[in-house]
Formats: sequence, C-alpha cells, structure tokens
Amino acid sequence: MIKRIAVYPGSFDPIHNGHLDIIERCRPIFDEVLVAVLHNEEKRALFSVEERVEIIREMVDGHADCRVESFSGLLVDFMDRVGARAVVRGLRAVSDFEYEFQMALMNRRLNPRVETVFMMPKEDYSYLSSRLVKEVYALGGDLTGLVPDPVLERLRQRLRPAEVGASAR
Ligand code: PNS
Repeated sequence: MIKRIAVYPGSFDPIHNGHLDIIERCRPIFDEVLVAVLHNEEKRALFSVEERVEIIREMVDGHADCRVESFSGLLVDFMDRVGARAVVRGLRAVSDFEYEFQMALMNRRLNPRVETVFMMPKEDYSYLSSRLVKEVYALGGDLTGLVPDPVLERLRQRLRPAEVGASAR
C-alpha cells in the first residue's frame, strides 16, 4: 500500500501552538506527517535550522507517524524525493489566502502531482504568528498557551528585549 505522506513545510522560526494544532489535525488523515523546515540563506532567522528541527522533533517525539526534516531548493522537488503528494498549509485568515493561493498554483504548475491541502487552526490561534511570538517575547509579553515550553525556554536563552528577530511567520 502506498503511504499517504503530508509534507507540512515552513520556516517555523519558532514553531508555535498554531503549527502544532495543524500537525495534530493532519495525523488522523495521513499515514505520515513530514514537517519540512526550510533552509533559507537569505532570511534572517532567530533560530538555526538545526535548532528548529531539534525543537520540532522534541514536540513530535513519540509520534511514530511524524517526521521532521530540513530542505532547501524547491518544495516540489523535496516532495518527489520523499514520495509525497500533499502539501499542508495552515490558513489563519483571509489575509493568508492570496499568498497561499499563489504558492499552491505555482507548486502545481511546477509539479502537477502535488496538491495543496489547507487546514484551519483552532480559532484561538488564528492571530498567532512566529513573528509576533518573537516580538511579544522580546517586549516582555506573556506567551502562556501560545508556544510550547521548549520554545519558551529557548526564547529565554536567546532573546533579550529589543532583539526582535526575522519576520518569518
Ligand atoms: O513559513 P513560511 O515562511 O510561510 O513557509 C514558506 C515555504 C517554506 C512553504 C515556502 O517559502 C517554500 O516552499 N519555499 C521553498 C522554495 C520553493 O519551493 N519556492 C516556490 C514556492 S511556489
């Protein structure tokens, strides 16, 4: 039987509870969820790709149906390498739609085997982004319930006020 693999790609700088909610929603639908962390040289990130992969691995530890890898280059080429057809993306609000629509159609054009599946995170997370997580933390705001503990711990080690990182979502 062919394994139905969902690739959930992103910057995840850092992962937050909205992302984790999407992973949980994927698990009953696909045989495997492969979280794919983008290696992007140009984007100034707070956490290295290795750290981001490590954090997410900690979060999905114990789930035999979840894997975490990094990738560079085109997402659709990565999809071919891992034998996946579905890309999963979270849609928080209408404002996400235009960018996501463009990416979905470009990915389909580049590789017609690839389908994009959109999933809505829990309403409680519909305003949450990695950029806001970094900004709120750096300015002393409370992130309880919005990011997992390993992320809070690493933010504590990494960020001091006025050290807000990149604009990854
Ligand atoms: O979390 P992000 O930054 O919104 O994720 C964007 C991501 C990683 C899904 C997108 O930038 C991507 O797929 N990059 C890989 C390069 C690529 O395939 N570009 C063409 C996309 S149509």
